[in-house]
Amino acid sequence: MDISQTAAWQKLLHHRQHLTERRITDLFREDANRFERYSVTGADLFLDYSKNLVTADSLDLLVDLAGASDLPGAIEAMFNGEKINATEDRAAMHFALRNPAKEDLQIDGHDIGAEVGDCLARMERCSSRIRAGEWRGSGGKPINTVVHIGIGGSYLGPKTVSQALKSYLSADVICYYLANVDGSHVSDLLSRLDPQETLFIVVSKSFSTLETRLNAGTARDWLLQSGIREAAISNHFLAVTANREAALQFGIEADHLFPMWDWVGGRYSLWSAVGLPLCITLGFDVFRELLAGAHAMDTHFREADLNANLPVLLALLGIWYINFFGAETHAIIPYDHQLRDLPAHLQQLEMESNGKSVTRDGAEVAVKTAPIIWGGEGTNGQHAFHQLLHQGNRFVTADFIISTQAQHKLQSHQDWLFSNCLSQSQAMMMGKGKDEIIEELTSGGMNISDAKRLAPHKVIVGNHPSNTIVMERATPRNIGALIALYEHKVFCQGIIWGINSFDQWGVELGKQLSNNIFAQVNGEENRMGFQDSSTTGLIAMYRKQSSSTKE
Ligand code: F6P
Repeated sequence: MDISQTAAWQKLLHHRQHLTERRITDLFREDANRFERYSVTGADLFLDYSKNLVTADSLDLLVDLAGASDLPGAIEAMFNGEKINATEDRAAMHFALRNPAKEDLQIDGHDIGAEVGDCLARMERCSSRIRAGEWRGSGGKPINTVVHIGIGGSYLGPKTVSQALKSYLSADVICYYLANVDGSHVSDLLSRLDPQETLFIVVSKSFSTLETRLNAGTARDWLLQSGIREAAISNHFLAVTANREAALQFGIEADHLFPMWDWVGGRYSLWSAVGLPLCITLGFDVFRELLAGAHAMDTHFREADLNANLPVLLALLGIWYINFFGAETHAIIPYDHQLRDLPAHLQQLEMESNGKSVTRDGAEVAVKTAPIIWGGEGTNGQHAFHQLLHQGNRFVTADFIISTQAQHKLQSHQDWLFSNCLSQSQAMMMGKGKDEIIEELTSGGMNISDAKRLAPHKVIVGNHPSNTIVMERATPRNIGALIALYEHKVFCQGIIWGINSFDQWGVELGKQLSNNIFAQVNGEENRMGFQDSSTTGLIAMYRKQSSSTKE
């Protein structure tokens, strides 16, 4: 179905015209209770969406759009394990990883609940052994260093949560995250570690991702070069994968393997054994709390009315600006140093899920889909990219994320952090007009002609919308709920746009081309027909210069 041809969409197009001249500040002046009316709590997260260019009619029409897409039906289909990832003939059941009840969910004859429960029990046993110093390297030393090797969804989720919950680290074991194929990452890291005390967790759903395979091989060589015998290597490796055969072939012992399932997409997998490093460094109880928070958001998502449903509201507001105001990007700005990796995780979650241009039945999408997701930790952004938010000539939108209680004791710091966060959403909305600026300048002693000359440079147009998501504290439970919130937001947008949010065919071409270029870099012929002179020329330059460095 082409959503843009629905009556609901057409009504929104018409309604949009009524808002062309409206300002968000007007909407606040007209309704003293706007804040109360346009905010909602779900799974302990508070969403203030009052600083949006929406009226009650806007929201009604947006909710109608969700209805026109049969979003409620799609939600139930996902939670019932239907194979909604049609191009890969798979279900999308990341919610099952955090469902304590382990409802009777069968997929292709597998009892999902039992398999998830078994895996969690193994994760608890394994992490407890390591935390107790009972997992020993081949030389008998307790393991005190874990290196998580993975990339994309096999890396960003656990790394983001590990950073977010830094205050909950509770083990003598330290975990490093290794992703890039750039040798400077792995060589810098290994140069600082003791092989006898290091355990590698190779995380790869396919176990064929080049970067991960190369890093794992280098880790293996590093262990061997340190004198650890081939037979004893397995003490230093665990693996998390859906490809058991490839992992066994690499040399991972069978009982050191943890499963990944086809019904969990990589970017939705931190709740699985991909999160094993979190169990090791934070403790399984903390990991269980993380799961509980995500499950609480699942429950809210399934049960709340669409107009009081946090994922649905974020999804609809995003669609409002992308499809009716031409927003090309959306910024994620956590006012929390420990959440500084969140934008990167959400970039993959949103852009790899909804960076699509064909509908679920293969037709070209008639509407814009995922925006460019970007952002960075607040307050720092104020001294970096917020200038564009305030005086650029693009329509920009943002989610601000803040806690009311800090994980530290420096209350004045938290007061300023909170004040800065609200100042930015307020400035984006209010702006500052020319007359007000001239008045300000002249009352400060500037003569009127100078003030009139300078004023245009100081105008802030404003009327840029934003959401503010408030946690009381960045606890494991609230972080779980926060990430699940965005997972479900992405799902809702995909349903309304009519696209498949759970495949990622777009990444395959790069992999093919890289293999061909790698072969030419190493002296072989181009094997893919026509090759542009840029690629050919740069390969020649690389071969010349890198060989000169080799000499
Ligand atoms: O190439 C993209 C991608 O497949 C992501 O979807 C995935 O999270 C990442 O690479 C890693 O894949 P794997 O877990 O199979 O190594």
